[in-house]
Amino acid sequence: MKDILPELNGKDYIQDLAADYDIHFCQEDEVDELIDFIHKHWRANHIFVLSRALLDWQHHDAQNKRYNFVMARHRASGEIHSILGFIPTNQFDPSIEAIQIWPCIWKSREDISVKGLGASLYYYLKTHIKIETIAALGNTEVALGIYKHWNFSTGKIEQYYLPNTCATEILSSHMKKIPLVDGSDEGWEIKPLTLDRYKMVDSQHKIFRCISKYKSKAYYINRYFNHPIYKYLFYAIMKNHSIESILVMRECGNGSSNCLRIVDYLGDLDNLCHIKYDLQQLMLKHNYEYIDFVVIGIVPGTLEKAGFVYRKDTPDTIIPNYFEPFQKENVDLDYAFKSVDPKAEVLFYKADADQDRPNLLP
Ligand SMILES: CC(C)(COP(=O)(O)OP(=O)(O)OC[C@H]1O[C@@H](n2cnc3c(N)ncnc32)[C@H](O)[C@@H]1OP(=O)(O)O)[C@@H](O)C(=O)NCCC(=O)NCCS
Repeated sequence: MKDILPELNGKDYIQDLAADYDIHFCQEDEVDELIDFIHKHWRANHIFVLSRALLDWQHHDAQNKRYNFVMARHRASGEIHSILGFIPTNQFDPSIEAIQIWPCIWKSREDISVKGLGASLYYYLKTHIKIETIAALGNTEVALGIYKHWNFSTGKIEQYYLPNTCATEILSSHMKKIPLVDGSDEGWEIKPLTLDRYKMVDSQHKIFRCISKYKSKAYYINRYFNHPIYKYLFYAIMKNHSIESILVMRECGNGSSNCLRIVDYLGDLDNLCHIKYDLQQLMLKHNYEYIDFVVIGIVPGTLEKAGFVYRKDTPDTIIPNYFEPFQKENVDLDYAFKSVDPKAEVLFYKADADQDRPNLLP
C-alpha cells in the first residue's frame, strides 16, 4: 500500500529525536500519565480526566492491550512531552479491514520547543499502522496549516436545518419559515428502530452498501447503541414497511429547549425527500426547535429537496454547534482529508471523529 505521509520521510529531526525520546503507543500502565498530560497540557478537567469509561471506550485497544495514543517520553527526565490521539474506525468493529483514522488530541508541551516532535508521532503512527485514510474534523489553525503542508485536502463542513415553524426560537435565531406539509409521500414513514430490530437487518441489506468501507453493521452498534454516556436515537426510513435508510440522531438542548441532530446516516440520502412530513410531526410531538444535519460530501441539493435549509442561505441565522456548555453561535468546523485510495470519498457526518463526544459529565 502507498505511504500516506511521504512528506515525513527523510526528515533529519525524526532520526535525531530518537536519541532523546522514546516514541511508542501508550501502554495500559501509562494511562494515568496520559490522563495527567491531558489535564495539565491540553485542558484541565477534560472529559477524559473526568471519565475513564469514556476514554477507554474511545481509545482503549483491548486486542493490542494499549491505548490509541502515540506518546513521546523524554528519556532524560522520564516525562511525556507530546501526545497524538487517534480513533481508527475499527475501534468499533475489529473486523473492518481498511484503516481510516480520525486524529483527535495532538499536543506538544508548550514549555518544550523541539522541532518536529509532534510530527514524529505521526511518523511513528504511519510506520506502525497501515493507514489508508486520515480524516480530521474540527482542527486548530496550526493543525490545519500542517495538514495543508502535508497535502491533505481541506474545507469547511456544512450545516443544514429543518425548522419547527411552530416553536419559539431559543437555541437558534432567524430560521427560515417552512410551511407544514399535509402528509407523507405514499408508503413512506419513519419508525424508531431498537437495537434488537437493527440486529435483525440483514448484513447484505442495500443500506450497508451505501456506507463507507470504514464502517460496518457492527460499527453502528458499538459506536452508537453501546455509547457509555449518550443515548442515540435510530429511526428507520421505511417504504411499504421495508427499511430503506436509517437516521442516527441525538437530542441536544440547553435545559429549556431541545433540538434533534442527525449525526450519521445509512442508506441513500435521496430517501430523505420522502419523509419531510414525518420529521415535522416528530418535531411537533417532542417540541424540538429544529432538526439539523452537519455533513460534507453530499450531492448538492439533496437536503434542500428534503426540505432542509442551508444555514448560510440567510446571514443572520444561528444554528449552534456546541451544547456542553451551550453556545449560541455558528461554528464552521474545518476538515482535513487524505487517502491513498483514489476512490475514497470525502463524506463526513457530525459524529465522525470525536465531534459528537460528551464534553461534560451528565
Ligand atoms: C500540533 C503540534 C503537536 C505540532 O508539533 P510539531 O511537529 O513539533 O510542529 P513543528 O512546528 O515542528 O512542525 C512540523 C511540520 O509542520 C510544519 N508546520 C508547522 N506549523 C505550520 C503551519 N502553521 N502551517 C504550515 N506548516 C506548518 C513545519 O514546518 C514542519 O514541517 P517541515 O518539517 O516540513 O518543516 C504542536 O504545534 C502543538 O502542540 N500545537 C498546539 C496544539 C494544537 O493545535 N494541536 C492540534 C489539535 S487539532
